[in-house]
Amino acid sequence: MEANIVLLPGDGIGPEVLAAAKEVLAVIQHKFGHVFNYKKYLIGGCAIDEFGSALTDETLIACQQADAVLLGAVGGPKWDDPQASLRPEQGLLALRKGLCVFANLRPVKIYPTLIGASPLKPEKLAGVDLLVVRELTGGLYFGKPKGRQINAGIQSAVDTLWYQDFEIERVVRMAFQLARSRRGKVTSVDKANVLESSRLWRQIAIEIGTENKDIALEHVLVDTAAMRLVSSPASFDVIVTENMFGDILTDEAAVLSGSMGLLPSASIRTEGPGLYEPIHGSAPDIAGRGIANPIGTILSAALLLRYSLRLEQEALQIEQAVERTITTQELTPDLGGRSNTDSVTQAVVKYLSEI
Ligand code: IPM
Ligand code: MG
Repeated sequence: MEANIVLLPGDGIGPEVLAAAKEVLAVIQHKFGHVFNYKKYLIGGCAIDEFGSALTDETLIACQQADAVLLGAVGGPKWDDPQASLRPEQGLLALRKGLCVFANLRPVKIYPTLIGASPLKPEKLAGVDLLVVRELTGGLYFGKPKGRQINAGIQSAVDTLWYQDFEIERVVRMAFQLARSRRGKVTSVDKANVLESSRLWRQIAIEIGTENKDIALEHVLVDTAAMRLVSSPASFDVIVTENMFGDILTDEAAVLSGSMGLLPSASIRTEGPGLYEPIHGSAPDIAGRGIANPIGTILSAALLLRYSLRLEQEALQIEQAVERTITTQELTPDLGGRSNTDSVTQAVVKYLSEI
């Protein structure tokens, strides 16, 4: 098959991990006879420096016209001034919104050889295999009004948690659909004891639950969900939740696997190009040292093949090659290993060629 893929390396370790994923995709092209055409654009801090905008119209249009987008990471201390009006993260948010990718899938799995890398006791990690479906284009990140005011010498700031019924409905439906091919359980996470938006969320989740009786639905308050993620993480299958709740819970869930550097994500809609990125950030402290963990991005490339290009076999092979790489202790320092980005990538390339 032939596919057009936009690459957005971004800032910090973004370019390093993206280059690694591209090498792995090259093996897939070669093995299966696919043609992937790449175009590369700036996003985030580097785009602010070059164009005065974290995401230019040209870049957004290129992404909208592609089959899929693979992104590294955005941000860094250079652009971190809280007073700044231009921020790298604006580029990422505008891209998610501009692609209408309302569902952000963040799978968390445990590799047996890495159980020691997790701060949790091994017995807590047995059977952990969960998928967080984070709402990505609404909620607290996008609601209006948003901004600052000074009135009678008093500064104030506001963000708004706003949802329309159809925004909740489509992401909850997606969670149910995904649960059907997994263990058949959905945990809808909200704060319905306090927030009106959460009461609407829960009402819609219940309605969808009654239409899908084959799936077990439970409702958990976000504070309890945060606790359960460390006290009994194996009790979750699919978690579906509001944008910011999902942001926070997925950083927490990443710790279960041993390192943020391992986790991929897929941001998708029902049709149209998907956006794929590791869940970690730009890690400016290690940028340029060649030691960033490329696995989160390599696995994001696998999700790209699975969800945007429908190449399940190819996606599975990348996942198997990663599994073998981890099992053979080819690990970057975030996992306590001594390998670097390149040696981990070469191991994945080698095992992939051998499958
Ligand atoms: C993530 C990140 C982003 C988010 C930041 C960089 C804007 O934390 O993808 O989880 O909050 O969504
Ligand atoms: Mg986050």
